[in-house]
Amino acid sequence: MKGGHEVRIQAGAGERAGFPDSAYADHGAQVVPAGELYTESNLVCRVQPPSTDEVAAMPEGVAMLSLMNVSRNRDVLDKLAARKITALALELVPRITRAQSMDVLSSQSTVAGYKAVLIGAGALPKFLPMLTTAAGTVSPAKVFIIGAGVAGLQAIATARRLGGVVSAFDVRAAAREQVLSLGATFVATELVVAGAETSGGYAKAQSADEAQRTRDALAKHLPEVDLVVTTAQIPGRDAPKLISAEMVKTMRPGAVIVDLAAESGGNTELTKAGETVQAGHVSIIGPVNLPATVPFHASQMFSRNILALVTHLSKDAKLVIDADDEITGPMTVVRDGQVVARPTS
Ligand code: NAI
Repeated sequence: MKGGHEVRIQAGAGERAGFPDSAYADHGAQVVPAGELYTESNLVCRVQPPSTDEVAAMPEGVAMLSLMNVSRNRDVLDKLAARKITALALELVPRITRAQSMDVLSSQSTVAGYKAVLIGAGALPKFLPMLTTAAGTVSPAKVFIIGAGVAGLQAIATARRLGGVVSAFDVRAAAREQVLSLGATFVATELVVAGAETSGGYAKAQSADEAQRTRDALAKHLPEVDLVVTTAQIPGRDAPKLISAEMVKTMRPGAVIVDLAAESGGNTELTKAGETVQAGHVSIIGPVNLPATVPFHASQMFSRNILALVTHLSKDAKLVIDADDEITGPMTVVRDGQVVARPTS
């Protein structure tokens, strides 16, 4: 391959995303059955964390990278350490400009933000755009995005392209400018406080008082909107509960909430991950694993992230995992037979 590496891929791995085995073979990769993947490999690249049995099948001393979900996979980390496997967690790519091209959380959030709006638009009993027709003029739907990070910004852009009138809210000051630059309005500017952001670019958890003021501001805005996409997350914690059951009752008939934080507890009190909850005349959709619903581009973006990372780890076609490197260091969760995972924040 161009980087000087030999590449092996599991047979059928790309099939359901629209990438047949022949496409990999045509580009010089060896397509092998799952059982033969790990033998002779120096670096194992995966999407999801391995099971302990899969770790047992990896040769001692290799390196691997995947999403690791560190706090929930301690047994896997221990097993990796016991086999002296160096493990890098993809979710711990530092949020620095140099590492942007390697950030799978970003690329997959882009997919989720886009798809959330399409799901919401599909469930709404209204058009999103303004229409001038022989049957009269249709006013545009009002879309409200809560949490204007990577997913939220993509949701704003998608809702704007579909013709919705979009407003948004986030606790981070930097998000405000980004929201405005996409042509959306920013709700409750007075709640944005300096210092709401960690050095890593993520939001900090709000104090009880700040959280109450946020809910009060959202309560004022929610009765005026048709579609809400919530994306608010705090790394390593349950998602903040921003919309109560009482607030849902004040929303317009037919309003839809798509809660992208469903998998980490939800931004509404009523969200159920993987389900649509009907609360009076309001639907609350809690989708899970949205990137899997746009498999072609989600896979393409994910693999470009991995390629950028592997290129970063390669020196003259050899793998170099440097604990002092500003990208590799924070990602390394198992090294030299030790679990060295750091808390996510
Ligand atoms: P995330 O998925 O952890 O959270 C989503 C959004 O929810 C964030 O914007 C956060 O501020 C917001 N939020 C949290 N609590 C909230 C509350 N109570 N009310 C309203 N909003 C709330 O974050 P995400 O989207 O992964 O990234 C956040 C930021 O990190 C980005 O906007 C960007 O500035 C930065 N970033 C930097 C990268 C780099 O430089 N390599 C790569 C990706 C993101």
